[in-house]
Amino acid sequence: MKRVGILTSGGDCQGLNAAIRGVAKGLYFEFGSDVEIYGIKDGYKGLIFGEYTLMKESDFSGILTLGGTLLGTSRQPFKTMRVIDENSVDKVKSMKENYKKLKLDCLVILGGNGTQKTANLLRSEGLNVIHLPKTIDNDIWGTDVTFGFHSAVEIATNVIDCIHTTATSHGRIFIVEVMGHKVGWLTLSAGIAGGADVILLPEIPYDIDKIAKTLNNRIDSGKKFSILAVAEGALSKEEAALSKKEFKRARADFKHPSIVYRIAEELQDKIDNEIRVCVPGHFQRGGSPCAYDRVLCTRLGATAARFIKEKKFGVMVGMVNGETVPVPLEEVSGKLKSVPVDCGEILAARQIGISFGD
Ligand code: F6P
Repeated sequence: MKRVGILTSGGDCQGLNAAIRGVAKGLYFEFGSDVEIYGIKDGYKGLIFGEYTLMKESDFSGILTLGGTLLGTSRQPFKTMRVIDENSVDKVKSMKENYKKLKLDCLVILGGNGTQKTANLLRSEGLNVIHLPKTIDNDIWGTDVTFGFHSAVEIATNVIDCIHTTATSHGRIFIVEVMGHKVGWLTLSAGIAGGADVILLPEIPYDIDKIAKTLNNRIDSGKKFSILAVAEGALSKEEAALSKKEFKRARADFKHPSIVYRIAEELQDKIDNEIRVCVPGHFQRGGSPCAYDRVLCTRLGATAARFIKEKKFGVMVGMVNGETVPVPLEEVSGKLKSVPVDCGEILAARQIGISFGD
């Protein structure tokens, strides 16, 4: 009898249930009734505290389109809690003990960069793990795409589309904040797809005067409205020159938690038209996965099941050039995939006159 655990960790996103389903159905295909699947509750927390359930085949039916994660999730165990916490729980030790107690042959771990680091740690401790790359941020090294990303692009694009109509009616300038953590993949795609006039990314620090000039030029040419798609991690040229510590202090001094409000305030001093801000936030992670993500999750999940059959452990299932491939965790863990400033999307955007504020 094969025994496989599945857990989802970190911020949720669209496609988690589709990927869980892909893994489970793939396992039943590979092992028939000779497999037991254990759903670990609330991410690594469930593995630390021994909270899990033996799943039935029917648990995996009808969940392809379901948003969120039926297993629950939690943020990284080592971010919010110390390695040995105040109740003297040694987290790595407990995770190993529970893995052994369950007699798992493999633990399939769905999550982003932080989750992947912990997966790699468990691998180095001798556990059989397989990681599936999940995040709307698309910032995982070693895979061309992560699941959740395309669904979030659809939502963020839809937000920009809706903002467009009201911006046009009122002749206003709208600043839409797009998620993406420290990288600009989501903003870049949604910005281009939504027809933004200015796109600000963490990878290209901005100059507020240049943005104002772009917007004033548009106004002078008769275009009374403008849309700015701004990554939550965007930063100015001045901020880019600061040390990490100085940067943190500078941001803490500012009264708004979000960069878009500061940009709006600074721009309003230089532009006559009204400026408004829109922060869709976690909306971008909610709801059903798009068709692309449903296919991607099915492929990643089914491949994980095949890797378990082939005893290919200690890897992430990456999507590289259209194929699912094993990517050794030790080679990718801790690396961040940011947007190359000369990528095709940025070049095309510049060519059609989209400003990056630089
Ligand atoms: O990593 C996904 C993400 O949605 C980021 O885009 C965002 O910065 C972060 O998670 C928000 O985290 P939380 O859910 O903890 O508020």
